[in-house]
Amino acid sequence: MSSFAMSNITMETIGSSNSCANLETRDTKGTSSALSRTLSCCVTIGDFANHILIGGLTGFTLFHSLSFLHSKDINTRAVMSYLHIVFCTVGYVLLMSEAIVIFTGLAQPVPHRIKKNFHLVVQILGVMCTVVGIVLMFLLKSVHFKSIHAILGLTSLVLMVPPFLSAFRYRQQWVRPIIIKFFHNFFGLSCFVIGMAAQCYGYRMFGAIKLLSDDVDVRSICIGITIVITILSVRRALPNIFKQFVSIFT
Ligand code: HEM
Repeated sequence: MSSFAMSNITMETIGSSNSCANLETRDTKGTSSALSRTLSCCVTIGDFANHILIGGLTGFTLFHSLSFLHSKDINTRAVMSYLHIVFCTVGYVLLMSEAIVIFTGLAQPVPHRIKKNFHLVVQILGVMCTVVGIVLMFLLKSVHFKSIHAILGLTSLVLMVPPFLSAFRYRQQWVRPIIIKFFHNFFGLSCFVIGMAAQCYGYRMFGAIKLLSDDVDVRSICIGITIVITILSVRRALPNIFKQFVSIFT
């Protein structure tokens, strides 16, 4: 075999092994893009399920707590208790959850500025509802902050202050923006999680709810759903907090 023929064979072999490699790479790319498509599909389903759970739990809680107003001797106490539940549930379960889910979850084409403004407006509404709800209960009671529910609610209220102040101070020159962002997210999420824990303890203050059967107390289902909503809502923000924490020191 001439050296020319030899080199042709070698080139062909190399060529064929290259195309094999290309095929493999394409295959790997195909597999990984299929995997990422499957993953983003799961994430979308997770968000969709979360919106349904948020709407369902808010609706059920408001509807069930109407029982406070059904009794014959309806009075100011009953109305204020009902409004406490309405404002706190709408503030936390509906508005704060949606403010986090939509801000962290909306896809790329939606401009960041629009997501940020939406987040700000919905958070402000959520905070206003919660403050009104807590003030109503505060006015109703003579002994304050004795139960775990009340202590968690108050803690969450206090933790609302730093993220609220930092939201309007992003452009301060004397602190790196990443530090402000980190503290905003850290306190914001802590406030949300502790508020949702207060909501769980809130359900325990209803009497037993036996709608499905005598063996199932619907309060446990409500607590379970509140925990699922909390996890689904913070799951995207948590890795961001970690990255922001790392980049403070790098
Ligand atoms: C299903 C939802 C809720 C129910 C049924 C509920 C019910 C109650 C009840 C019966 C009290 C009076 C007894 C006590 O002080 O422990 C109370 C107090 C209180 N709740 Fe709620 N609550 C709910 C949600 C929330 C949420 C989401 C927050 C705030 C994050 C909150 C914050 C508070 C605070 C701070 C108090 C104490 C007020 C005081 O001691 O002056 N509640 N709640």
